[in-house]
Amino acid sequence: MATGLPVACLEGSAISAARTAASATLAAGALHPRKERQVLGIIGCGPIAKTVHQHLRADGWFFRYVTAFDLDEKRAQEFGASLDGEDDVRIAGSIAEVADTADLIVFATTAGEPHFFAARHITARHTVLHLSLRDLGAEILLGAQNIVDDPEHAVREGTSVGLAVAEHGDTIVAGTLAQILTADVAVDYERPRIFSPFGLGVLDIAVASYVYDSSAASGQGTEVLDFFADPA
Ligand SMILES: NC(=O)c1ccc[n+]([C@@H]2O[C@H](COP(=O)([O-])OP(=O)(O)OC[C@H]3O[C@@H](n4cnc5c(N)ncnc54)[C@H](O)[C@@H]3O)[C@@H](O)[C@H]2O)c1
Repeated sequence: MATGLPVACLEGSAISAARTAASATLAAGALHPRKERQVLGIIGCGPIAKTVHQHLRADGWFFRYVTAFDLDEKRAQEFGASLDGEDDVRIAGSIAEVADTADLIVFATTAGEPHFFAARHITARHTVLHLSLRDLGAEILLGAQNIVDDPEHAVREGTSVGLAVAEHGDTIVAGTLAQILTADVAVDYERPRIFSPFGLGVLDIAVASYVYDSSAASGQGTEVLDFFADPA
């Protein structure tokens, strides 16, 4: 910040996945009533879904089984195989099938606009980690307690929350994850709880800083002493 000069160059995709999964896991712990014997539902089976599963397990979640759906069934199968027996994975034929069996649901698709509107499948039993942000129709959000990471960011770029707020007003957003953690907003177990995190750059910086400090301390980074023309 002081000089504008870069300190380090880091490969960012793993850092982004880690901070996304860590914040999703934090939200799951704060919004869902229990961590044991739950059924985890995964919709969209790419690296983000896989990293979220890893973080949930590391945080002490224990799943009866995992039910997974992807438009590309091969991806759902690869996701199942990648867990290496850590959890029993059952491939579902639709999002509704995942919702009907799961308690905690992760959306990690690449959908560009809402495609799931069947509110009857999302009930008070569910906590939904809506990481891909553009899957759910307004009718589902209207019946839920909506929690975001940042209210200004969460309504940008055609997100489901943004579309629903434009139509129904910002009172549909109950608060932020920070407000849940400080108990300024109470968790509502009478409705489904939906966490829609836009994703905060500051979290990337926090994780990158941790990686940088750890690699510097263990001597794993590569120092490039002649990177700048003027070493001073
Ligand atoms: N909110 C955040 O902070 C945050 C951070 C990082 C990534 N993301 C988002 O997470 C999502 C997943 O990222 P990824 O790297 O795993 O992507 P990916 O492309 O590797 O995987 C996405 C999977 O979703 C599937 N899919 C697409 N549309 C679907 C639908 N309608 N129903 C079911 N499956 C569907 C695809 O077939 C694919 O297998 C992306 O949308 C990304 O932008 C969010």
